[in-house]
Amino acid sequence: MITPQEIQSVKQRFGIIGNSPLLNHAIQVAMQASPTDMTVLITGESGSGKESFSKIIHSLSLRKHGKFIAINCGAIPEGTIDSELFGHEKGSFTGAHEARKGYFEVTDGGSIFLDEIGEMPLGTQARLLRVLENGEFIKVGSSKVQKTNVRVITATNVNLIKAVEKGKFREDLYYRLNTVPIFVPPLRERGEDMVLLFRKFTSDFSEKYHVRPISLTAEAQSVLMRYPFPGNIRQLKNLAEQISLLEEEREVDGPTLSRYLPADNSRLPVALTGGNRDSEAMDFSERDILYKVLFDMKKDMNELKKLVLESYKSGGLNQSIIQKHSELFEDMDSNLKPSESHDGGTSYMPLVLESQKSSNQDPDEYEEEVIEDIIHEEDDNSLSLEKKEKEMILKALRKHNNKRKYAASDLGISERTLYRKIKQYEIDQ
Ligand SMILES: Nc1ncnc2c1ncn2[C@@H]1O[C@H](COP(=O)(O)OP(=O)(O)OP(=O)(O)O)[C@@H](O)[C@H]1O
Ligand SMILES: [Mg+2]
Repeated sequence: MITPQEIQSVKQRFGIIGNSPLLNHAIQVAMQASPTDMTVLITGESGSGKESFSKIIHSLSLRKHGKFIAINCGAIPEGTIDSELFGHEKGSFTGAHEARKGYFEVTDGGSIFLDEIGEMPLGTQARLLRVLENGEFIKVGSSKVQKTNVRVITATNVNLIKAVEKGKFREDLYYRLNTVPIFVPPLRERGEDMVLLFRKFTSDFSEKYHVRPISLTAEAQSVLMRYPFPGNIRQLKNLAEQISLLEEEREVDGPTLSRYLPADNSRLPVALTGGNRDSEAMDFSERDILYKVLFDMKKDMNELKKLVLESYKSGGLNQSIIQKHSELFEDMDSNLKPSESHDGGTSYMPLVLESQKSSNQDPDEYEEEVIEDIIHEEDDNSLSLEKKEKEMILKALRKHNNKRKYAASDLGISERTLYRKIKQYEIDQ
């Protein structure tokens, strides 16, 4: 019998916030299933928090000292997934210069988490069924049957029964995987958890960005709890980040919060996706990117404001232009911001850029350059979200030496979405 205290301590250990009965039940089932070797199927909408459950199950199992490998079936190209999972022999296909062990071989004695199992190709499903039934597998290009002892944990945010009906998922495998089903509830069915999670995320972000934490009025809390959150916790986390960064008033009321909540999916910027949307999961991953693009643009905008102000202070820009648009500069650092002078008029603290101090540039010439820069920036950046997105993806890939897993995690999107975007933008790696 699992006690409420034991459930509580698992939540603490795995950073799971919430206290709703549905969540507690899911954790309890995971804890009961852990010490067995049964195959587990974790279901739940995108962003509901399925990933932590795989870790709970492995960490509380008798295999906890064995290997744990998480594989996103949707992120591995169809042509290589068999070889990744089961290995291949040298020369078994073009480019197979060496023999390679697959995850099922190297994880012998441990657990494998097969995420987005609904994306697994039918051929691979047949191999998986065999390994689940009797621990047998055969490397690609080999005829030798090998044995392994791996606990399989799977997860999906698509309806596998529908996939079975459409002939995309093997019915026998579905029943085999579903020995222990764990249903992770959608956020909208978790009541007060929404407020707890929002508080947790805004407090995390206030530390990360060194800003005062956001709090919600009672009215805003009920707005939050009435919102359906189709993107679940991932969407709530994005919302908390967005408000933490953009909202000046740190106590958020109902109408303000409503402004941040999209009425429905149709308000999401569709142009960014370039068609080919095959599951709801993507919408929110794409929204993650979009938020980041917006933050990036806001940063650019602030840089531009700084540039204009600095050039004004050095005498390069016409004072009347700045005064006419003074509201644009309201959110600037106080050392850059326009301030009241003794005679009541607006004046600016003297600040001269190093590069300009030494130059004897004609102010008119400098003004032209600034304006050119601004026009150039607009052409380059703000008008093309897609271009910006591609740039961010390239940046992330470069930063992580083309390791998609880390690049995807840095971008806050799934590997599968990254893989799709790489194809969409024809990025060479
Ligand atoms: N109970 C929770 N407490 C705190 N954070 C959570 C909780 N559940 C999920 N999260 C966070 O929410 C985000 C989404 O969770 P996760 O990646 O597990 O979703 P998922 O169900 O696997 O979605 P998908 O089907 O799209 O892969 C992650 O950043 C995760 O850390
Ligand atoms: Mg997941």
